[in-house]
Amino acid sequence: MKDAEILAMVQDWAPDDQERAAEALGAIERGERRAWYCTHGRKCDGKEHLGYPYPHARGDQWPPPGADWFMWFLSGGRGSGKTRTGAEYTRKMADKVSRMALIAPTGADVRDTMIEGISGLKFVAALAGQKIHYEPSKRRVTFPNGAIATTFSGEEPARLRGPQHGFAWLDEPAHMPLIEDVMSNLQFGLRLGERPHIVLTSTPIPTKWVKRTQKDPKTRTVRVSTHSNRDNLSPIFFDTVVSQYEGTRTGLQELEGRLLDDVAGALWNTQILTRESINPEDLDRIVVAIDPAGTANRRSDETGIVVAGILGKNAYVLHDASGKYSPMGWARKAHSLYDMYKADAIVAEVNFGADMVEEIISRNVPTGAIPPRIIKARATRGKAVRAEPVVALYEQTRVFHRIGSNLADLEDEMLTWVPGHGDSPNRVDALVWAITDLLAPTPPGQVLSARGMSTRTSSIPGLRGVPDLSSLRR
Ligand SMILES: Nc1ncnc2c1ncn2[C@@H]1O[C@H](COP(=O)(O)OP(=O)(O)OP(=O)(O)O)[C@@H](O)[C@H]1O
Ligand SMILES: [Mg+2]
Ligand SMILES: [Zn+2]
Repeated sequence: MKDAEILAMVQDWAPDDQERAAEALGAIERGERRAWYCTHGRKCDGKEHLGYPYPHARGDQWPPPGADWFMWFLSGGRGSGKTRTGAEYTRKMADKVSRMALIAPTGADVRDTMIEGISGLKFVAALAGQKIHYEPSKRRVTFPNGAIATTFSGEEPARLRGPQHGFAWLDEPAHMPLIEDVMSNLQFGLRLGERPHIVLTSTPIPTKWVKRTQKDPKTRTVRVSTHSNRDNLSPIFFDTVVSQYEGTRTGLQELEGRLLDDVAGALWNTQILTRESINPEDLDRIVVAIDPAGTANRRSDETGIVVAGILGKNAYVLHDASGKYSPMGWARKAHSLYDMYKADAIVAEVNFGADMVEEIISRNVPTGAIPPRIIKARATRGKAVRAEPVVALYEQTRVFHRIGSNLADLEDEMLTWVPGHGDSPNRVDALVWAITDLLAPTPPGQVLSARGMSTRTSSIPGLRGVPDLSSLRR
C-alpha cells in the first residue's frame, strides 16, 4: 500500500517528477519490490529485462569493483543519476554499517534532495519495499534494521568532529566551499566497521580538492554523462537544461561530468570538441579503426578501437570500444562493431606484424559472415605528426562527437595527451586512423591550405608546409 508519508512528500515535487513517481508508486501499490542491482551486474544497461521489468542500475551506477578503494567519486553530469546512485548504495550499506553520515552542501539539501527528493533515500527505500524513519529535528534517518544515518550540512564542518561512522555519502561535495574541513573532520571519525569508505556524487568543478581527490590512487572516479540517463529524464529537462549546455565547454562539465582544465601542450582542447546528434544510418561510410596492443612498441596493453563515419565533408565519431583485449577479443569486438554499424572497412594499424594483424582479423570472422574489407594503416610518421592534421579538422569543425555515445574516456585522452609525455594513447591512435582514413587529411599542408588556413611552417623541425597549429589552438 502506498505510504501516506511518501504521498505527502511527492506532493511537493515538480509536476514532472510527480508523474514519474506515480508510475513507481503504482508498482509499490501492487506490492512489487524493485531491486536496484540486477544479476547482470556491471554489464547491465539498466533497461528492463527478464526478472527486472523496470529500469534499474546501469553498470556505471554500480560501486567500483574491488575493495582497494577508499573513495568512489561519481563525477556525473546534471541529471545523470548521481543522487539516485548514492541513495541506493547508502541503503545497501545500511545492511552492513550501523552508523553512517549523509552530507549535502546545506541542511535543506540533505532533507530535500538526499532524503525526501525524487532520488532520495525515502523514495528508494519505498521502491525496495522498505520504510525508513526520518527525524529532521534529530538529523537522523533510521533504517528498519536499526542502522542510523546522521545528516550534516557542508556549511557546518565542526559538527562532524566527534561522531564516528563506518560509511559516508556526500552529495555535491564539489559545491561545498568548506569541503576541506568537512573531509578532514569526517575522516577522523570514519573508523567503524571493517572497511570505512566514502561515496561522492557530484558534478565536478576544477577546484584543488576535486583535482586532488580524483587523482588520489585510493579514489575511483567514474564519469557518467547526462545522456546515459536519458531514459529516466523528462524531455522537458532535455529541452531546457541540456540544450542550453550542448556543444559548449561548460557542457563538458555540466553534462559529461568532466573536469574542465585544459592541459598545457595537449593537442586537443575542450573548445574544439564539438558534439552533434547523428543517426549512424545516415552516414555515407563508416570504419572501425583498431590500434592493436602489442603491435606498436607501446607501453600500454590496451587496444584502441574507435568507430567513425562521414557524411559529406564531415566526420562523426560514433563509438569507442577501446580496452584490454586478447587478440581474439579485439578481433571479435571489431567484427561485432563492423556488423552493428554496417561498416565498410576495418582500418588496422599494422606497423609491426602486418600479416599477423590481418590474420587475427580474418581468423575471427564470425561463421557465416562475409569477411570485412581490411585497410592496413602503416605509421610512417610519428604519432604527433599524424595527429596534427586530425586536430586541424576538429578546429575547422569538421569532426563531431556523436551526442549520446560514451566517448568520455576517448575525449579525456585527447584532452590530456601531450606528445612526448606520458602513456601512449591507444584511443587517440585509433581515432586518428579512423579520421585519417575517412577524411584523408594528408599531406596536411594541402588539406589545410585548400581551406584558407595559414600555411606557416610548423614548429616541428623537419616538416614544411604544415601550418602552425599552436597559434590556432590558443
Ligand atoms: N538507473 C536508473 N533507473 C531508473 N531511474 C533512474 C536511474 N538512474 C537515475 N534515475 C532517475 O533519474 C532521475 C535523475 O537522477 P538523479 O536525481 O539521481 O540525478 P542527479 O545526477 O543527481 O541530478 P542533479 O544533477 O539534478 O543532482 C531521477 O528521477 C532518478 O530516480
Ligand atoms: Mg543530484
Ligand atoms: Zn539489469
